[in-house]
Amino acid sequence: MIREVLKMGDPRLLEPAQPVRRFDTPELRELLADMRDTMAHLAGAGLAAPQIGVGLQVVIFGVARNPRYPEAEEVPDTVLINPVLTPLSDEMEEDWEGCLSVPGLRGMVPRHARLRYQGFDEKGGPIDRSVDGFHARVVQHECDHLMGILYPMRIRDFSKFGFSEALFPGEDVLDE
Ligand code: NI
Repeated sequence: MIREVLKMGDPRLLEPAQPVRRFDTPELRELLADMRDTMAHLAGAGLAAPQIGVGLQVVIFGVARNPRYPEAEEVPDTVLINPVLTPLSDEMEEDWEGCLSVPGLRGMVPRHARLRYQGFDEKGGPIDRSVDGFHARVVQHECDHLMGILYPMRIRDFSKFGFSEALFPGEDVLDE
């Protein structure tokens, strides 16, 4: 079921999410189905459970090859629960981000260039990946939602924050 995505300003987006204690339950399957439906409906690159008002440490993300976004790197469809992120270097990279909770806007956000992420899939199976580039960026963006952090809180240069239609006239942009 497509759910309403909370928008920046809603206090629920600022609350830390709680860890999932039981895996492979009907409730968790229903939450993930709703998250997938909602993300697909809005053509997002990722979605975190708090964005639909569920305060659990659950994120989904994934970007298929898409001719509309020839420069977007492919990111495998992933369910990531109770994530732990470990930066693999001090190097930071800046790039544009958008968010389904901050519709219509884009900002230039610094992120760790390389990181390891660990956590669990919906059945409780372990996930352990080391990634870089856009994949690393998407994971950091989604996991920030679990700590009540929205990407505008990480912007350093507010001259690079604005409306998509003004920043990128005529272009489709991906939201996370
Ligand atoms: Ni977001």
